[in-house]
Amino acid sequence: MWSGTKVICVIGDPIDHSLSPRMHNAAFKYLGLNYVYVPFRVLKADLKYAVKGIRALNIRGFNVTIPHKVSIMKFLDEVDSTALKIGSVNTVVNEDGKLLGYNTDGLGFSEALREEGINLEGKKVVLIGAGGASRAVSFYLAGVCSKLTILNRTRSKAVKLAGELTGLGCKVCGKGLTTKSLEKELADCDLLVNTTSVGMYPNVGESPVPRNFLRKDLVVFDIVYNPLETLLLSYAREIGAKVVDGVGMLVNQGAIGFKMWTGVEAPKEIMKREVIDSLLGRG
Ligand code: ATR
Repeated sequence: MWSGTKVICVIGDPIDHSLSPRMHNAAFKYLGLNYVYVPFRVLKADLKYAVKGIRALNIRGFNVTIPHKVSIMKFLDEVDSTALKIGSVNTVVNEDGKLLGYNTDGLGFSEALREEGINLEGKKVVLIGAGGASRAVSFYLAGVCSKLTILNRTRSKAVKLAGELTGLGCKVCGKGLTTKSLEKELADCDLLVNTTSVGMYPNVGESPVPRNFLRKDLVVFDIVYNPLETLLLSYAREIGAKVVDGVGMLVNQGAIGFKMWTGVEAPKEIMKREVIDSLLGRG
């Protein structure tokens, strides 16, 4: 940091676990950019004061995480149409005092698929979960694949989300997440995406899908990145399926914000290495 340092931050509660400060600071350092990225724990009741502070301090931009992704919207000057559809904001840019909100999760997901060489045209996708992350991913998927089935523990949320996605190009349906629905849908699909927290640290011994429902010709994408290899991905790898972990999506959603704040292309390899080092307890 030196004179004229621009500040980026992330607000959430809890915030100590966030990998974003390390990921972005490594990128700023690598490129010699005069920026710093700081984590701030902001309680729910303090969100409006935090946003006032961000404006007063002229912070250049910020990420938003649990529990503020939805409630932040009412404090912003503009929210882009994709974030409005998804119903949450994870990235904010301060343009001369105007706070503009975006959701970069869907694009981060699509970029991660592109990097893996996965083309979804004409493909059938099963998406597990219907929460915030699922909404971001599903609006992208519904525009590119041929059939999207959303399975969620709370059936009504899957049905509601499927309803919002109809008309975007593919056939969509929402169902309850049961052994029966999983078995049926996985027998006839190309890509399986987990957006639930099942299998996430500390519950590393859980998988949202039993091993015997997976096949060699499936692509299995788990957006969970901690642990790097979830139980679901280890089942899929052992069976010989193609696996995609959550690091690519994390890095790509961050890289999109990085470009918005700095105007500079993000050094994704540096960011990825930093995330992996952090997850493996290195450095
Ligand atoms: P995020 O923003 O990370 O998506 P969220 O909005 O709280 O978080 O959504 C969590 C998702 O994980 C939901 O789809 C949730 O299912 P419900 O809608 O039924 O709550 C799903 N989920 C969490 N724990 C689960 C579990 N043990 N089994 C199945 N699904 C689970």
